[in-house]
Amino acid sequence: MKVLVGYATVYGSTKEVAEKVGEVLKSKGMEVDVKSVTEISDVSAYDAAVIGAPVMKFSFLPPAKKFVKSNRDALSKIPVAYFSIGFKMINDTQEGRDWMMKKLKVVTKVVEPVDVGLFGGKYIKPEKGLKMPFPEGDWRDWDKITAWAEGLATKLK
Ligand SMILES: Cc1cc2nc3c(=O)[nH]c(=O)nc-3n(C[C@H](O)[C@H](O)[C@H](O)COP(=O)(O)O)c2cc1C
Repeated sequence: MKVLVGYATVYGSTKEVAEKVGEVLKSKGMEVDVKSVTEISDVSAYDAAVIGAPVMKFSFLPPAKKFVKSNRDALSKIPVAYFSIGFKMINDTQEGRDWMMKKLKVVTKVVEPVDVGLFGGKYIKPEKGLKMPFPEGDWRDWDKITAWAEGLATKLK
């Protein structure tokens, strides 16, 4: 079974989450390609897909949204899961999850997922430029991410 793990990122933290998800799926015997959504040409080559992007400036990162929209037909034929990261998930609360799920509607309403993973992100204040009012740190919980990816292995089949 061939699985696509597609990600969109600005600072690279989502790419690392995608790589972790890919690693877990590989350990479950799946053939996995981890790729930026801007580098994927043929979705029909895959039996399942996982698409991940951060929420930034109150939106699921636009290249990921664009990817899902442009590949709607091919993605609709296979099991699809989404994941997202953001400061809203630093504390895993129902309010945070509801807020994130609203932001992910731009993709969940286009292709319905078999599962959605929501995790804290990583934020380091830039030396120059706009500083966001978020606590600085790496809030990605690798145990949670691994557990989610392990559960996906059966949901994607
Ligand atoms: C400019 C900027 C805007 C952000 N806006 C949001 C937001 O609206 N909601 C949220 O939950 N997290 C927000 N974040 C946190 C990011 O989702 C987090 O830093 C994420 O790990 C970035 O992913 P990347 O490293 O793959 O680009 C923002 C971060 C930055 C730098």
